Amino acid sequence: SIPAKYKKSSYNYQLRKEAEEALEKMIDAALKDNIKLWVVSAYRTEATQKSLFNNSKNSDGLEHALIYSAKPGHSEHQLGLAVDLNKASSKAHFENTKEYAWLKDNAYKYGFIERYLQGKVFITGYGFEPWHYRYFGIELATDLYKEG
Ligand code: DAL
Ligand code: ZN
Repeated sequence: SIPAKYKKSSYNYQLRKEAEEALEKMIDAALKDNIKLWVVSAYRTEATQKSLFNNSKNSDGLEHALIYSAKPGHSEHQLGLAVDLNKASSKAHFENTKEYAWLKDNAYKYGFIERYLQGKVFITGYGFEPWHYRYFGIELATDLYKEG
């Protein structure tokens, strides 16, 4: 499970081993550039995803839940390959931070890709989530980065 230095809560965050090792390398490298990153969500069980989806639906409606959460069985978090960093809320505007700018330039070097881009809901099926990164491995992440 992800060590305390990579998170702010006591929650037991987990990822697949390869993704976790890459994430820790990325967060360590960011810190060397004075960029502070921390995990706010990682692997989720079906049950956890179900309750998150239902909470989103109950507070903001089904349409919002379908775009900003994901139905159980559809979330990348259930793969153990996706991680949310720092501020997982549209209202926080993580996209305006130097942490986000660092991730834009560097995440692929550690095998991570920002997954749900602004204005791409018609392709991805999900709204802008500047905090959500998926591990692909360095080789594929680099190809995806280069291809935009
Ligand atoms: N919130 C994103 C879409 C996910 O759970 O994969
Ligand atoms: Zn996420």
